[in-house]
Amino acid sequence: MIVALLNQKGGVGKTTLALHLAGHWGRQRKRVTLIDADPQGSALDWSEQRAWRRFARLFGVVGLARDTLHREAPELARDADHVVIEGPPRIAALLRSALLAADAVLVPAQPSPFDGWASAEMLGLIAEAWIKTLDHSVSTASASDLYTASLTVDITPALRGRIKIAAFQRGETVADMLRALLTREFPDTDGGN
Ligand SMILES: Nc1ncnc2c1ncn2[C@@H]1O[C@H](COP(=O)(O)OP(=O)(O)OP(=O)(O)O)[C@@H](O)[C@H]1O
Ligand SMILES: [Mg+2]
Repeated sequence: MIVALLNQKGGVGKTTLALHLAGHWGRQRKRVTLIDADPQGSALDWSEQRAWRRFARLFGVVGLARDTLHREAPELARDADHVVIEGPPRIAALLRSALLAADAVLVPAQPSPFDGWASAEMLGLIAEAWIKTLDHSVSTASASDLYTASLTVDITPALRGRIKIAAFQRGETVADMLRALLTREFPDTDGGN
């Protein structure tokens, strides 16, 4: 499994939790790789300190602060029971790449309004990456047979964001959510088109 610790907000505990999670699995004799996707390289520094002090190696740490992470992480995951990705604050391209690579995402946050607001931004990013991925998988033959007409409307970026987050929270794609909404709003009353 690939688990990513992500939040655009800095100083929320991403590095600390990533190291503890990897350490916990390492102590259970799982093969663990921690990907340090933060250019600050804190996890790499931590790993170097342990090696320098000749402490036992619990898991491997690799630095991969590149937005091609989602293409490289699966290869690392093949030789590991668990991969833990420690994400960077702020850098959207890297965050998106880590999101696409991950099977599960943990969003640490301090119990403060500032962290809450900043985490909402993170949630929007998850929705965007998640929906983009799902959009590819739903283009099945039966769906494309059924949906031959399309409808385009211009909306505000803020409304677009709210729609994406609502779909994410309901566990469906934006397209499926809007189709259900339009079908409810405009029911087929005469049985025809
Ligand atoms: N559970 C916790 N309880 C108390 N302090 C904590 C806890 N987790 C982390 N900290 C402290 O909070 C600070 C920030 O933690 P950490 O560096 O892990 O956050 P981060 O999200 O990785 O930060 P950055 O975005 O800068 O990479 C550190 O001083 C750390 O020791
Ligand atoms: Mg960090």
